[in-house]
Amino acid sequence: MTKKLHIKTYGCQMNVYDSARMSDVLLPLGYALTDHPDDADMVILNTCHIREKAAEKVYSELGRLNRTKQRRKDMILAVAGCVAQAEGEEILRRAPYVDLVFGPQTYHDLPEMIARLSRQGGAVLNTDFPTEAKFDHLPETTLKSGALDGASAFLTVQEGCDKFCAFCVVPYTRGAEFSRPVAAVLDEARKLVALGVKELTLLGQNVNNYHGVGEDDASWGLGRLIGAAGEIEGLERIRYTTSYPADVDAELIAAHRDVKQLMPFLHLPVQSGSDRILKAMNRRHGAQDYRLLVEQLRTARPDLALSSDFIVGFPGESDADFKDTLRLVEDIGFVQAYSFKYSPRPGTPAASLDGQIDETIKSERLAILQDLLKVQQLAFNKSCVGEYMPVLLDRPGRNAGQMVGRSPYMQPVHVTAPAEMFGTIVELRIETAKANSLAGTLPGEHGLASRGPNNNKESAA
Ligand code: SAH
Ligand code: F3S
Repeated sequence: MTKKLHIKTYGCQMNVYDSARMSDVLLPLGYALTDHPDDADMVILNTCHIREKAAEKVYSELGRLNRTKQRRKDMILAVAGCVAQAEGEEILRRAPYVDLVFGPQTYHDLPEMIARLSRQGGAVLNTDFPTEAKFDHLPETTLKSGALDGASAFLTVQEGCDKFCAFCVVPYTRGAEFSRPVAAVLDEARKLVALGVKELTLLGQNVNNYHGVGEDDASWGLGRLIGAAGEIEGLERIRYTTSYPADVDAELIAAHRDVKQLMPFLHLPVQSGSDRILKAMNRRHGAQDYRLLVEQLRTARPDLALSSDFIVGFPGESDADFKDTLRLVEDIGFVQAYSFKYSPRPGTPAASLDGQIDETIKSERLAILQDLLKVQQLAFNKSCVGEYMPVLLDRPGRNAGQMVGRSPYMQPVHVTAPAEMFGTIVELRIETAKANSLAGTLPGEHGLASRGPNNNKESAA
């Protein structure tokens, strides 16, 4: 009998990828995915620990699920991801009805954990950092998991982080940096493309410090890996995230110039525009380094658009420091950004620093920064009106006949288009722009113009 599996994913794209791989592990055990937690035989919360709010969400969701579990005693309730890794036993203390707790590096062991659960009764906790890499133990991806469904997919190439920014939990929850071998990455990429994927986003916590072993036994950087991915027949778009500015090397900059599938959009977190704060954050770059790097990238790829992450209210941040951040934003011009109030995280150095900033000041600064970022984003979106853009149609729209796609710059684009265009890259004329999305039309009567180096409608979903 099939059992139903529900996975709820919080946080970053790597969690989306991990959730898909968890279902790759569980589907062969007779599970089928469901969108509804209430009739599931197993529910996995794949969690995020990056800010306090993200972690607290998990406990309120667990409370809700416990009520379902009271009715359906056999349901397996699992907490995965970074909250599981960081809090471990604490989860079982606060939510004793949880059955499984496992971190980002052990989910390949799920069949064993489930077997142990039925053998021993009582909860199973598995938050080791195993010496063998989980990637060597995962089954081939099938794309049957909803998360990876469609024309665009994530592929983890690097995991973990050794940078230890003073505010960040990632080095503790994801562990040390690890790069998958080139052959494993390219093999997975080819399989995804054969399953109909047109766009791949190469993932890593610090993806541009990728240093995987190549077939020639040499250590390959991300630029070289992207070059090799660009040779894959049928792969039309390549992206990568998330990058650390100090690890962008000449080879990667050259890839932006030379690899035509590499999209002209880069998420490059800077966090702050103040050198003093960047130093206190243990970032290995200053504000001017960032400006110069962006200049080099734009020289290589003049139409490159940038996105970033910002933290306001890091301990010790003065008005002058904050103004430096605003100045950097004005100088660079971002087309999109994520900005956060600093959230002290247990176990990180910044949490015990003097000079913690008042919540109201954090909120004020965040509002000012977000206003500026919003103005830049809207201006960029408006500048697209009247242009033609290749859009990868990868999601159904709200109304019948509507679809949503992604522009090269990651803008969602709404369009009314025939169903057979789903999963393809279509040239659209941009008609209107809003703060967070564009709307386009198909050019010409039937609007069958489509573009891309290897456009192949046959394999579309
Ligand atoms: N390179 C990483 C980014 C880490 S988390 C990756 O993509 O995996 C994403 C963003 O969250 C960071 O760039 C930072 O801006 C923000 N962030 C991390 N820790 C934070 C904290 N303690 N408080 C507020 N924001 C934080
Ligand atoms: Fe976190 Fe800094 Fe690494 S933000 S993921 S410690 S580069």
